[in-house]
Amino acid sequence: MEKLEQLYEGKAKKVFKTADPNKFIVSYKDDATAFNGEKKGQIAGKGAVNNVMSNIMFQLLEAKGVPTHFVEQLNDRETVVKAVKILPLEVIMRNVSAGSFAKRYGVEEGIVFDQPTFEFSYKNDDLGDPLMCESHALALGVVTAEQIETIRKYSAIVNETLKEFFLEKGLKLIDFKIEFGVYEGEVILADEISPDTCRLWDVKTNEKMDKDRFRRDLGNVEETYQEVLKRVQK
Ligand code: TMP
Repeated sequence: MEKLEQLYEGKAKKVFKTADPNKFIVSYKDDATAFNGEKKGQIAGKGAVNNVMSNIMFQLLEAKGVPTHFVEQLNDRETVVKAVKILPLEVIMRNVSAGSFAKRYGVEEGIVFDQPTFEFSYKNDDLGDPLMCESHALALGVVTAEQIETIRKYSAIVNETLKEFFLEKGLKLIDFKIEFGVYEGEVILADEISPDTCRLWDVKTNEKMDKDRFRRDLGNVEETYQEVLKRVQK
């Protein structure tokens, strides 16, 4: 399958049409941004890590009953996916306090929650992806009540599956962001699952093994992405 016209270029990926109207090709870039694009850089090898890792995670989740956009990996950076229409909602689940949660409530990072949290952000760069409650999402017509139910059900499976999987690799799943799309009328998991979109801390040292190394200038960024992929592939 070959790339035709470029449909879209995001901060971390490009999406291309293919000869099949039901399939797109995504191409992962090494570009990295943070703080809604204010901080820009490159992480050498990131595109390949995120592509290969996402595809492993999607296949694992399919086996657990979560439908995903994954079709076939073409090469290190490129994957054939189902031509979904992305819902303009980011779903964030948290097991441990960190990032914007710690900042919003003025608490330290590392508080382990009894129950995972579930939240939506409205996917809108001009507005800085604001936190969005369910009734606002419904009022704006961003999703239907039925879609929210499906998203909650799948997200819970994603959290449980990833938590267990990463723990076997010596990584704690602190939090993550996922996106869903609609394909043939059904809600399916799309976008990516990578160190860009998950917070992962080393089980033994609590060292940050994710994009926070770039966001916070912690060093060893490239090496950390490679290490996470190595562990995920084991
Ligand atoms: P946050 O603590 O900054 O809200 O981030 C929560 C999780 O979402 C974290 O694992 C990083 C991920 N994330 C994205 O994937 N994209 C984003 O634009 C942001 C802000 C966070």
